[in-house]
Amino acid sequence: MTSQSGDRASVADRARYDIGAMTEGDVYKLLSCAVQPRPIAWVSTVSADGTRNLAPFSFFTVASRNPATLVISIGERIGSPGEPKDTLVNVRETGNFVVNIPAADTVEAVTASFATVEPDVDEFTLSGATPIPSHSVSAPSVLESLISLECELLREIDLGTDTLVLGTVTTVTSRPGLLSESLHVDTLEHPFLGRLAGPFYTTSMNRVAQ
Ligand SMILES: Cc1cc2nc3c(=O)[nH]c(=O)nc-3n(C[C@H](O)[C@H](O)[C@H](O)COP(=O)(O)O)c2cc1C
Repeated sequence: MTSQSGDRASVADRARYDIGAMTEGDVYKLLSCAVQPRPIAWVSTVSADGTRNLAPFSFFTVASRNPATLVISIGERIGSPGEPKDTLVNVRETGNFVVNIPAADTVEAVTASFATVEPDVDEFTLSGATPIPSHSVSAPSVLESLISLECELLREIDLGTDTLVLGTVTTVTSRPGLLSESLHVDTLEHPFLGRLAGPFYTTSMNRVAQ
């Protein structure tokens, strides 16, 4: 560690990136590098005509503790600028979604659900994840996930290329034995999956105690 005023040479040597002068692709890469590891929302939805959808989103966090609110950032449909992803279409149609928290051992299924396919393709079948009925929303939950947070759409915020989707959590389910009576979880026994930049993931097995 350097002193609080910093080391002169290292301050001058710090690389600088002016966002306004960069391409959209490079800004995305820079943000993905800067903000990591990120949690993963494995979002399940259903369309008005009953087709199930599953997709991972790592631009995701808790937006408020009270009322319990989550936020995910959904970009444009890959390969179709200006068009919404199926997840957003379904959230708009039904007003709900489920944020499933993936376990480390489901990394292959999470990656498989990333595919941009036609809206009528069931991404549960595609990824091998098992759909189970939710309690308070029409979207299914994922059996293999550690925790499923059932959400009602609260608000959508348009932010340029991306849309922030805010959801009020209505019901939470978890794997049997995951949470203790005092609502603690042993993340070594039940490893969570996180997203790093590029093709990389991480897990809560790397946790550091302080
Ligand atoms: C680990 C991971 C994290 C991702 N995070 C995001 C994200 O935060 N926002 C986004 O728009 N797309 C993200 N993607 C890409 C979407 O998952 C992909 O476009 C999605 O599967 C589209 O599905 P849909 O059209 O069925 O909604 C991510 C992909 C992976 C593999």
